[in-house]
Amino acid sequence: MTVLKATDSQEDWEDMEEQDLWTSELVIMRVPEQAQQRCVSQDCLVSLRSRFSDGGHAGILAIGLLCVLCWFVRDGLKEKDVRGRYIFITGCDSGFGNALAKQLTKKGFRVIAACLSEKGSQELLAYTSQSLKTVLLNLTDPSSVDKAVEFVREETGNAGLYGLVNNAGRSMPMAPTDWMELEDFHTTLDVNLIGLIGITLKLLPLLKKSKGRIVNVSSVLGRLACIGGGYCVSKWGVEAFSDSLRRDMQHFGVKVSIIEPGFFKTGVTNLEFIERDLLRLWNHLSPEVRESYGDKYFVEYLRTQRLFMNRLCSSDISKVTECMEHALTAKYPRTRYGVGWDAKLLWLPLSYAPTFLSDWVLKMCFPLPRGRSFPGARFLMEV
Ligand SMILES: NC(=O)c1ccc[n+]([C@@H]2O[C@H](COP(=O)([O-])OP(=O)(O)OC[C@H]3O[C@@H](n4cnc5c(N)ncnc54)[C@H](OP(=O)(O)O)[C@@H]3O)[C@@H](O)[C@H]2O)c1
Repeated sequence: MTVLKATDSQEDWEDMEEQDLWTSELVIMRVPEQAQQRCVSQDCLVSLRSRFSDGGHAGILAIGLLCVLCWFVRDGLKEKDVRGRYIFITGCDSGFGNALAKQLTKKGFRVIAACLSEKGSQELLAYTSQSLKTVLLNLTDPSSVDKAVEFVREETGNAGLYGLVNNAGRSMPMAPTDWMELEDFHTTLDVNLIGLIGITLKLLPLLKKSKGRIVNVSSVLGRLACIGGGYCVSKWGVEAFSDSLRRDMQHFGVKVSIIEPGFFKTGVTNLEFIERDLLRLWNHLSPEVRESYGDKYFVEYLRTQRLFMNRLCSSDISKVTECMEHALTAKYPRTRYGVGWDAKLLWLPLSYAPTFLSDWVLKMCFPLPRGRSFPGARFLMEV
């Protein structure tokens, strides 16, 4: 800046050019117009412009890198003194809930693990230490919910509840929409959505008391509805409920996070159960609906589903429980956690794509009913 002010003559400007004083980014960025007017030689102007533009790009890159760095530092900050606090987890008989209950107990939290079955509860108790307690909970049974809430209230006492992990869920039935009855939608919606909302509402006073955390387990299928039945509908509902809950609870210091796993090997992706349930639906179809799909459809559907599940399902469920733990212990928990390579590289990007594109990709993946043709459908059959 001082160099520019002191410089009037063409000679001085040319000297500056020779001495490479333009390398001072401050000078170039702050007065590019002024400098351009004073530059008499065309070469000087060209050189100045290119240096100004290089400096601009470098500046943007530096700011970008700084933002990424700041994000990582902020994301890694931990909340102080959370160990020893009470965490209530639903659906701990198996899968993510079971693994999280063990993980958090080992790390010193006081875990209250809700199990659907007595067997699940006994197995978990046998495995873990005294700081873990179990309670039976069937989310579709109001009296069971009330008893579990009472148990949590008594256990937590004045301390309040620090974490609620709404993990329990079921996936079946999943199939083309016209294979379903209304009752089939209830089966999943009553657990995954209405059950989740019900227990959350009852535990909110305890969570507000301790300015706690709520971690709701949704799915990538809560971002991209790619299969018929209540599962996707329920997970879209979980996303919407969590968003409104987060906005309402921010005033009381309660933080809400959503976990969106891709495909992992657990009870909800157990192919044996899923196929058995599909066969039940297929056998109950009216002759008219079955005829519209054709006899080969069912076998092709099973084949496609097996192919996808075997390729996509990861057995490393710790990726999911690590995200749940982060949501409970980080100073700044994330709003959404996409978990697994398939979530990050396939499902979530596809959910942002234009609808015609996601429709096309999904159409290419599923078999076609009798008499329908679609060039891309051959792709999968040939993989
Ligand atoms: N695995 C995946 O690929 C995946 C992907 C995205 C999202 N998720 C979600 O992750 C959550 C956990 O599932 P998971 O994969 O760990 O499968 P999981 O092993 O089947 O766990 C689900 C848990 O919920 C329990 N449950 C079922 N119905 C219930 C009810 N009415 N009341 C209370 N608890 C009930 C199950 O008990 P039982 O074992 O006794 O049936 C089980 O403990 C679910 O919300 C699921 O939708 C899973």
